[in-house]
Amino acid sequence: MRRHSLCLHRLVLSICLLVILPGTVSPGHAAAGDPPIFDMGAPFHPVISRHGMVVSQEQLASDIGSDILRRGGNAIDAAVATGFALAVTLPQAGNLGGGGFMLVYLADENRTIALDYREMAPAAAHRKLFEDAQGGVDTDRARFSLQSSGVPGTVAGLVHALENYGSMSLKQVLKPAIKLATRGFEVTDTLSMALAWRGEQLLEDPVSATYFFQPDGAPLRVGQIWRQRDLAWSLKQIARHGARAFYRGAIAEKLVSTMEGGGGLITLEDLENYRVIERKPVYGDYRGYRIASMPPPSSGGIHLIQMLNMLETLELGDMDHNSAAYIHQLTETMRRAYADRSEYLGDPDFASVPEAKLLDKAYAARLAFSIDADVATPSADVRPGRYLPAESPQTTHFSVWDSEGNVVSNTYTLNFSFGNGKSVAGAGFLLNNEMDDFSAKPGVPNAYGLLGSDANAIAPGKRPLSSMTPTIMFKDGAPVLATGSPGGSTIITVVLQAIVNVVDFEMNIAEATSVPRFHHQWWPDVLILEPGISADTRRLLVEMGHGVSASPRLLGKLQSIEQRNGVLFGSSDPRWPGDAVAPVQ
Ligand code: DON
Repeated sequence: MRRHSLCLHRLVLSICLLVILPGTVSPGHAAAGDPPIFDMGAPFHPVISRHGMVVSQEQLASDIGSDILRRGGNAIDAAVATGFALAVTLPQAGNLGGGGFMLVYLADENRTIALDYREMAPAAAHRKLFEDAQGGVDTDRARFSLQSSGVPGTVAGLVHALENYGSMSLKQVLKPAIKLATRGFEVTDTLSMALAWRGEQLLEDPVSATYFFQPDGAPLRVGQIWRQRDLAWSLKQIARHGARAFYRGAIAEKLVSTMEGGGGLITLEDLENYRVIERKPVYGDYRGYRIASMPPPSSGGIHLIQMLNMLETLELGDMDHNSAAYIHQLTETMRRAYADRSEYLGDPDFASVPEAKLLDKAYAARLAFSIDADVATPSADVRPGRYLPAESPQTTHFSVWDSEGNVVSNTYTLNFSFGNGKSVAGAGFLLNNEMDDFSAKPGVPNAYGLLGSDANAIAPGKRPLSSMTPTIMFKDGAPVLATGSPGGSTIITVVLQAIVNVVDFEMNIAEATSVPRFHHQWWPDVLILEPGISADTRRLLVEMGHGVSASPRLLGKLQSIEQRNGVLFGSSDPRWPGDAVAPVQ
């Protein structure tokens, strides 16, 4: 049914692409009778290139990465340049003071590496760090104080990626970011609005106030040229001295003096002890595709694959996409996976995570079997691991693909938009509040409503559990999709729906990115629907027993690249302003 109804759209799309986008598609590729690269359906069109592509949340940063590719850099060079550029152009999430995860696929070795540059808890952190005198959790301190910052990993992570897998020098890839910070760039509506939205916290910090606001306390003005002298200084220090500048040198000193001035915990020793960890990705198989994703301390990869394993037991493609029956099945799947997350997931160097069991297809089948096709299971009746065998608003994603087939899928973050709102004086960058991703106390949810167990309790040197899910999907041994998203706890279900949309519903990546999504995380027992899911569907879901949230909410911002027949198709989530796909022409 659905496929027939899309035929007309496909035809119209083909014509539109040929007529409207002559510059994007080279004439040789658009000739009649060519392989049907445009026959991809829906009124959504991805950006096309055969020569490489960068998709991020901000156009200047995507262009910088794409330019590196054009000048012969590989996907890793471009990713590192994009990562540093986002620290300048997207201060709400791009960062030097945060951390993240990078999945790198090296085409000539046919190998995928998972780089863990997540923040680490400082040595002075302890299990009860955020408990208050009454035994509750002091959420203000856990989210908005200098104590909420973990030891940042971004600089170490990006430099590690470049030194081990890139081909250019640190100076080369940092140059465009330094130029942007020094000469400045025009403030966009999006940036000015984001600053206004988080003004309260940012203005509380006198240093952030001078970096991001005008003297009268108004956010940077739309259209003004914004120069960041102190940030340019930090970037130049890194270009000159490498990651050492950040972890032992002049930047480290400024960071520690900011900590000492405001009751923060991070010491010079903590910075010196920071380590990037190369981990083995988690792998899963879904309907003939191979999925590589981020292992713990992210929960993303394990639960993405666990949910796909559960869904593989159903003929999803025969269901109507986003119908009540379909949303119900996925919701029940999400509910069961997130219950397990609350119990079993944490930093694998501190807690033992039953990875093999959680990824076991037979376990997934038992979980799937517990789903009633017509009635919601109350979350109170879903216990973590009930069927487990006995023993047991801001982040940003970018995807990069080069002409040699190397792929980078990177998600990094300060946790909240603009982190804890506090800047390092003289160094020009904001600090993360990633310590709130730990479970401050059993039974007390973090900012995303997530519950955790001992496995995710605070301990010195430990990395807080994350939901970030940078992912690469393969078919017949070759990469076919790089994707990921911000969105806190919703990241995993957002990435899940991108994959299901592509694999089960054969959507092109722009359609798979654009269609409405939904989210459930076991606790709170609420199903969040995006705008665009009909009132009729909502009513049917309520009748099935789902606690549907009264207010629809946008979920995630996917930044993806798909490869079909050697052609790259990019899509930057249209939910938010700023189409930031940069194809190499
Ligand atoms: O690592 C995590 O799971 C969170 N700190 C991510 C935060 C996030 O995605 C916020 N963005 N919208």
